[in-house]
Amino acid sequence: FTVLGSDQPIIAVVGEEVVLPCQLSPRMSAKDKTIRWFRDQINSPMYLYKNTLHVTDEQNQAYRGRTALFEEKLEIGNVSLRMRNIHASDEGIYICFVQSLTWYEETKIEVIVTGTGSVPLIYLDDYEGNKIRVGCKSSGWYPKPEVTWTDGKSQNLTTVSETIETENDGLFSVNSYVITDVSSHKPTCHIRNNFMKETRDSSLQISDVFFPRVSPWLMAFFVLLVLVSVAICMAIYCWRKQTLNWQDLE
Ligand SMILES: *[C@@H]1O[C@H](CO)[C@@H](O)[C@H](O)[C@H]1NC(C)=O
Repeated sequence: FTVLGSDQPIIAVVGEEVVLPCQLSPRMSAKDKTIRWFRDQINSPMYLYKNTLHVTDEQNQAYRGRTALFEEKLEIGNVSLRMRNIHASDEGIYICFVQSLTWYEETKIEVIVTGTGSVPLIYLDDYEGNKIRVGCKSSGWYPKPEVTWTDGKSQNLTTVSETIETENDGLFSVNSYVITDVSSHKPTCHIRNNFMKETRDSSLQISDVFFPRVSPWLMAFFVLLVLVSVAICMAIYCWRKQTLNWQDLE
């Protein structure tokens, strides 16, 4: 017999379930065979079926309780593996290895993991002079997402800083900033999973009152200060001129 897998990589979505296809050819029962699904170490399988039993003592810890065969399909040689709750670390090559008393065959299946993260949180971060820095953050992305900003219409805004970090679960989180100085802009952040072509957006309308302006009272104060200074200078000038005149007379 031979085993047939898939020429195409299998796309697995974070947190969801995936089926890794594997089929005996010609069609025959797999119940009397050993079925071993593994990644790099044959001795640490993700799933092992032997003597009609699911054997757990050798099973790789990371896959315990997450993998299963379709029991009712073994009769027709379908030894596909069902894997639940996909993690970022599940990306890679898997081997479906089937062994009878006299023969063995295997096939490789590539798994690509992808995840679209949370709806971004957009927020007022700080003042930058009389402009405002706006931040955008989101987590749960795989692979690394792409962040762009627009002004709420079609103009792009320039990102001033961006950090992408790997979290404990292997997924990426992103934090990006722009600076805006006019209330007509409605900063909008777009985070994109280029692999799945999925985007999540958030935008923030900042009303005029949040943009710092020179207050009319402050303006009046400065004008007054200038006028008072001029008056004082003139007073000193006149006074000195007068004392000089008196000295001349003496
Ligand atoms: C095996 O059976 C499962 C469950 O019905 C199905 O999803 C899968 O496509 C089958 N695989 C093949 C190679 O026929």
